[in-house]
Amino acid sequence: MDGKLKNFYDLYWRRKSVREFSERLVEPEKIDRLLESLRRAQSAANRQPWQFVVVVDKDERAAMADVFTKEGFKKAPLLIVACADPSQAWTRRADKVNYAWVDVTIAVTEMIGAATAEGLGSCWVAAVEPGLVKGKLGIPEHIEIVAVIAVGYPEKELVTEDKARKPLAEIIHYGKW
Ligand SMILES: Cc1cc2nc3c(=O)[nH]c(=O)nc-3n(C[C@H](O)[C@H](O)[C@H](O)COP(=O)(O)O)c2cc1C
Repeated sequence: MDGKLKNFYDLYWRRKSVREFSERLVEPEKIDRLLESLRRAQSAANRQPWQFVVVVDKDERAAMADVFTKEGFKKAPLLIVACADPSQAWTRRADKVNYAWVDVTIAVTEMIGAATAEGLGSCWVAAVEPGLVKGKLGIPEHIEIVAVIAVGYPEKELVTEDKARKPLAEIIHYGKW
């Protein structure tokens, strides 16, 4: 295979957070497919309350280095800054919950699946200073930073153990809580 995985479960089990990237750049056509997967995602009432800043240029990436505490992220050849625009999102009438972050999260999850299918590694990085990210990238005040997604070819083959997950008995309630 060309590094692509075709079965959903292959993908789903293959995905792990990658925090160390090789120097290899991500091919432009792969980046295009990742961006298309963001664009195609579902969203509440199809509002698509998202914006994404793609940081791929070497100098622009270097300027983002101090956003991260982990060294590995500073080397990622592709950064996608996922932003929510609550003013564009659907709001649930009953409790006024704004779905912007939910929608952005769905789009990013789709993109992470696409990245896995492309043989790429990725990590969702929430631990950033939103004000710093906004200032560096000229992101308007009313836009919210959901995450920076670091993407690239993994430095080494993913041989690490799966991270533990809670057993189903702890999280599933049949019929009633
Ligand atoms: C919403 C969210 C925020 C995360 N933020 C960070 C982060 O700031 N830094 C980091 O190293 N990993 C971050 N991660 C990765 C998680 O630590 C990781 O998904 C979790 O430990 C499970 O491991 P796995 O992704 O390898 O299955 C984040 C993941 C999610 C879903």
